[in-house]
Amino acid sequence: MHHFKYRDGVLCAEDVPLTLLAEKVGTPFYCYSTATLERHYKVFAGAVPKGSLIAFSVKANGNLAVLRTLARLGAGADVVSGGELAKALAAGISADRIVFSGVGKTGEEMRAALAAGIHQFNVESQPELDALNALALSMGKRAPVTLRINPDVDAKTHAKITTGTAETKFGIPFVHAREAYAHAARLAGIEIVGVDVHIGSQITDLEPFETAFVRVGELIATLRADGHAITRLDLGGGLGVPYEHNNEPPPDPAAYGAMVTRVTRDFGCTLSFEPGRLIAANAGVLVSRVIYVKRGDAKNFLIIDAGMNDLIRPALYDSHHEILAVKEPAPGSLRPRYDVVGPVCETSDLFAAGRALPELKSGDLVAIMTAGAYGAVMASSYNARPPAPEVLVSGDEWGIVRPRQTYDELIAQDHIPAWLGG
Ligand code: LLP
Repeated sequence: MHHFKYRDGVLCAEDVPLTLLAEKVGTPFYCYSTATLERHYKVFAGAVPKGSLIAFSVKANGNLAVLRTLARLGAGADVVSGGELAKALAAGISADRIVFSGVGKTGEEMRAALAAGIHQFNVESQPELDALNALALSMGKRAPVTLRINPDVDAKTHAKITTGTAETKFGIPFVHAREAYAHAARLAGIEIVGVDVHIGSQITDLEPFETAFVRVGELIATLRADGHAITRLDLGGGLGVPYEHNNEPPPDPAAYGAMVTRVTRDFGCTLSFEPGRLIAANAGVLVSRVIYVKRGDAKNFLIIDAGMNDLIRPALYDSHHEILAVKEPAPGSLRPRYDVVGPVCETSDLFAAGRALPELKSGDLVAIMTAGAYGAVMASSYNARPPAPEVLVSGDEWGIVRPRQTYDELIAQDHIPAWLGG
């Protein structure tokens, strides 16, 4: 469910026509809907056991305004870098609702998180445990830690976003878990608080989640028998969203929450979750203008002013995003097929191949849907293209929440050294 709907023949974000934003902001731009963000957060929070920590995965959308919107509803944050930690704090998310994940936390990043007093570190290896212990001791602190366990479960998602199998770099192998906990228990700067698991992203089937959670439940029992105080269980993120409307939708948060409640009922743990995509994906669109319609020999190309530097998901994961004409097509009108491409000089700068769309011409606007997660955050300035700015809508209000960089700002990032006359 999202709040991008046609009204009087124009696609609107809540009460704001995207045509108006295109005129005021220029194209391309990302547009986020507050009502959709809020709805998704509330639906998820309502589906999982009461008292759970919902730590929004900042990597999905790190815009401060988006984080502030979620913080106001009580969201915490799942961060994977010092930069994300700083952003979550700047957005007003209190440190005691922040969890720090990731395989390569540096000493500097861990020090900042210890100083802030975060809720927990999700530690992914023994060397990381040792480094965190040394730092905590040097600061006169104890670091609250869960160990991220790799349950060796195939999440049946895209290979590039699978994290819970033995072949990936993530987590401590299930078979080494007891040994890792025994090691952690000997470290005075580490306070073991629980277990963490995250098996991948865009998961569209509850079964791999359930298999992993059951396996983790067995581990919790073993760890308690070994004498560890396990009071928290972090179940990660990963629940998929509908990208393609012809496909069967993924299980909804209610079904996921019911499964979690059933499986974890007797675990005796406070739960935390790290949803990213589920909250943000359908709350954002990338609006772009058609530059040219190019008639090729074999196909027609719709060349739009957004490129793979703005939204890299199709190029990187062959991912599908629905594309809508901002001007509502008349019922029964023609739907010719187009390859929808950007201006970047790469063949992979392709948003959709052979897509049936309403007839479009130069100057028309399109909206690339479900782009609120892993869109703007993965943008770059490849081809010296300032990434698309971001706009947040709330009812009939809107604001630019990240402006478009000017060429001067883009150029000012580089410095010419003295020997070259700088
Ligand atoms: N927690 C951890 C430890 C993660 O690694 C991730 C995502 C999440 C939570 C959030 O997962 P979500 O609920 O959003 O599925 N760029 C890719 C997705 C990469 C996901 C990486 N980790 C994409 O565009 O599909």
